[in-house]
Amino acid sequence: KPQLLIDTDPGVDDALAILMAHAHADIAGLSIAAGNVGLEHTVRNARTLLDLMGSAAPVFAGCATPLVRAPDEDAAFVHGADGFGDIGFAEPKAPLSAESAALALLRLTRERPGELTLVALAPLTNLALALRIDPTLPERVARLVVMGGAVTGHGNTGKVPAEFNVGFDPEAAHVVFEAFPSFDLVDWEATLRHAFDDAEFDTWLAAGDKRADFFGRIVATARRYNAKHDRSGVIAADALAMAVAIDPSIVTRSETRAVAVELDGRLTRGATVVDWAARLGRPAQANIVLEVDHARFAAMVRRALGA
Ligand code: BDR
Ligand code: CA
Repeated sequence: KPQLLIDTDPGVDDALAILMAHAHADIAGLSIAAGNVGLEHTVRNARTLLDLMGSAAPVFAGCATPLVRAPDEDAAFVHGADGFGDIGFAEPKAPLSAESAALALLRLTRERPGELTLVALAPLTNLALALRIDPTLPERVARLVVMGGAVTGHGNTGKVPAEFNVGFDPEAAHVVFEAFPSFDLVDWEATLRHAFDDAEFDTWLAAGDKRADFFGRIVATARRYNAKHDRSGVIAADALAMAVAIDPSIVTRSETRAVAVELDGRLTRGATVVDWAARLGRPAQANIVLEVDHARFAAMVRRALGA
């Protein structure tokens, strides 16, 4: 079973990804970032999920703000003001570790060098901070899989070409993209190509166990938002990245290219710039996932819902 260290900002699609990790892998730890909503909510949501799954995985709170600039926007309009569809869940019981996320990432990868796959489902603030403390981090992880970017500029933020995780903290994404000699990049556009059909998803929700019931409730706000904005189906960016982390053989088409992050730009701050034609002479470090085996992806999600 893959051993996963998950950096996350739950977040509805983060929740689905974590359910998948619990069903198909071992969770070595959850490091929590601010992003979709504020850190107090993302930490609490992670703990709510651990209660639901009956998991004792440790949770580490990370950075409450991006490295440099205050973000232009959060994603509460999709995920709900509390990040979990505003259901009003009771105070969770799962404990919060006293160690901060960046330090925990460094410690866990020192204790288990080469064993852990790092799955980044949030703005990359915690990873960037860890890399500034200890630049040898990449040598100790088995793989890095990042949900982030919009490789042909069809982003999902107010800065048109930017995807949310990279756009929320572009400096952090820059630090991570420069530091890792190789990583898998699951971008927003791949996510849109791998949305789930609404009717089919509903059959999984109906057939599943308490995890399906829980997910059906928290995803309702996001589904309403997407329907209103002409995005059909259940879009689950972090779940796609998690599928690639759990089983890389699910990838059916990918291209390895140099990817950089635009840090300035009047319209383009936070855009991922892909050197498609290999003109810049930079090392091609990002394995850009373009397609996965959709049926296998669906089967992984279904099982994570108990359906
Ligand atoms: C990413 O941004 C967040 O809103 C989602 O949880 C996902 O990690 C998609 O752009
Ligand atoms: Ca996320």
